[in-house]
Amino acid sequence: MRIRSIYNGEVRDEQIGQEITVYGWVNSRRDHGGLIFVDLRDRTGLLQLVFDPSINKESFDVAENLRSEFVIGVTGVVRNRGEGLENPKLATGTVELAVHDITLFNRSKTPPIYIDDHAKIGDEVRMKYRYLDLRRPSKMNNLLLRSKATHSIRRFLDQEGFIDIETPYLAKSTPEGARDYLVPSRVHEGEFYALPQSPQLFKELLMASGFDRYYQVVRCFRDEDLRGDRQPEFSQVDLETSFLPAEEIQRITEELLKQVLLDTLGIEIETPFPRMPYDEAISRFGSDKPDTRFGLELIDVSDVVAKSDLQVFKKAEQVKAINLKGLASEYSRKDADNLANFVARYGAKGLAWLKVDGEDLKGPIAKFLVEEKEELNERLDAKDGDIIFFCADKKSVVADSLGALRNHFGKKHQLIDQSKFDFLWIVDWPMFEYSEEEKRYKAMHHPFTLPQADTIQYLQSDLSKVRAEAYDIVLNGYELGGGSLRIHEKELQTQVLKAIGLPLEKAQEQFGFLLDAMDYGFPPVGGLALGLDRFIMLLAGEENIREVIAFSKNNQAIDVLSNAPSEVSQVQLNELGLKIK
Ligand code: AMO
Ligand code: AMP
Repeated sequence: MRIRSIYNGEVRDEQIGQEITVYGWVNSRRDHGGLIFVDLRDRTGLLQLVFDPSINKESFDVAENLRSEFVIGVTGVVRNRGEGLENPKLATGTVELAVHDITLFNRSKTPPIYIDDHAKIGDEVRMKYRYLDLRRPSKMNNLLLRSKATHSIRRFLDQEGFIDIETPYLAKSTPEGARDYLVPSRVHEGEFYALPQSPQLFKELLMASGFDRYYQVVRCFRDEDLRGDRQPEFSQVDLETSFLPAEEIQRITEELLKQVLLDTLGIEIETPFPRMPYDEAISRFGSDKPDTRFGLELIDVSDVVAKSDLQVFKKAEQVKAINLKGLASEYSRKDADNLANFVARYGAKGLAWLKVDGEDLKGPIAKFLVEEKEELNERLDAKDGDIIFFCADKKSVVADSLGALRNHFGKKHQLIDQSKFDFLWIVDWPMFEYSEEEKRYKAMHHPFTLPQADTIQYLQSDLSKVRAEAYDIVLNGYELGGGSLRIHEKELQTQVLKAIGLPLEKAQEQFGFLLDAMDYGFPPVGGLALGLDRFIMLLAGEENIREVIAFSKNNQAIDVLSNAPSEVSQVQLNELGLKIK
């Protein structure tokens, strides 16, 4: 076999007159008055081949039987396409290859997927035949982009003195808040490894060893409900540092992201990114990962409606509203009423609405708000043609419901500037959150997060007042990453674990190795992990991380390509000492 001289998509005028050998897949074939034209595809693009019986009759005969997706190799001479025959849509549009030698490596059945970016193909078929799906240029480009991005990330971190160290996959459970994937041990019947939800504890231990700066592009495993931005296995750009304040870790992260955007998309972004306290994000946007590419903020009207005759408003812990400016005419009474179903998913018991019609307020609740009208108008900046939606409930329900409704409106009414990359740090997180389900406080990030010094006093009295040295990074409404400074003193660590109901003996059992390390000169550490899949998804302009993962799972956590998970043999079960109930 001859060695490839060049990739298809890279042939230019410079190669005119040269003999070259190229390989690839037949993208299309056209017969034209005694000549056969083939577009040959490889990972770089298309090159037009010409088969002319007067150049080589044997090659021409082979070309007559070529069909889409046949794999071939050809040798020929590059030539100009000739006046008026150029294709400006192709990078190789001015040239073609006059073939004198062809090797047919393999034929193809008609593929179940049309290899075309514009074809509409069902997700399940695409994932079952993912190797064909990935022949489509846009999908292949997603993975090329991913490779470029990870290369840029590694180069940047290497320059900044970060050491790439691998941590175990067969490990012990780390508490990141999801369910673990367990792996039964054959040698120790009845015992299990847990696949890591993140390398959190190992990376802290590497700091205890003195590596000072660690990074890893690492697979993490979490058994949780799946969504467009969540997979059971996903990758983190995981970092950890010693002796740095939070601001410096954030600065390094900003520089990293800036470099990757430049290297991959050629886009210059501004640093530093804005910082927003958690409480402000919840209050203004109803979300801890607000999409700041558009306004439509939540406005508190609790005080204004407190005196009204509307019982639901009067009795509620909080009443907030969003004013969809100028869009009243887009909502019939039925459309507006139906949105109550949308917010019901977030626990809201209803969604009231008003339309502004000239000087008047119209809608089912208008009659209850006659006296409040002036003040309400002013608070909401209500003008003719606006439609205003209200939610009255517990604070958390109001935030979740209106936060989701805001995002829904943002998409539906195209209020979002799609060309933007809006990065934002969310800071000053609560250390704990109360779980209604379990009737106890849980760590909001993880229990190794350092509490802010001036709130440590509340560890004994009021956990809701303890704030964490934690920071999340948000991009266009997605949680891109999260990190924190960590506790490095055993006593404080013990106090925090106790606060979430983990007494020392139990904590010792679960992560005694970390607690022990704190006895031997544990430095102050801090770090962060970026969700790599989410980052690439946003760079690629995709809406699901599956599009930037070579082989992913569907939202039932099934790999439809290899058909995993699947049953195993009785022999395997016996070896592991397992019995299916
Ligand atoms: P955290 O749990 O916030 O932090 O995870 C970091 C980032 O990983 C991404 N991510 C996911 N991506 C795809 N599918 C999932 N199921 C999934 N879960 C999380 C998100 C998230 O922001 N050890 C800490 C980091 C630290 O404190 O240094 C951690 O894992 O983008
Ligand atoms: P009702 O008095 O139950 O008929 O409700 C009057 C209006 O208030 C209806 O439009 C309801 O959808 C709305 N509503 C009911 N409960 C709430 C709530 N918790 N928050 C906002 N609006 C509500």
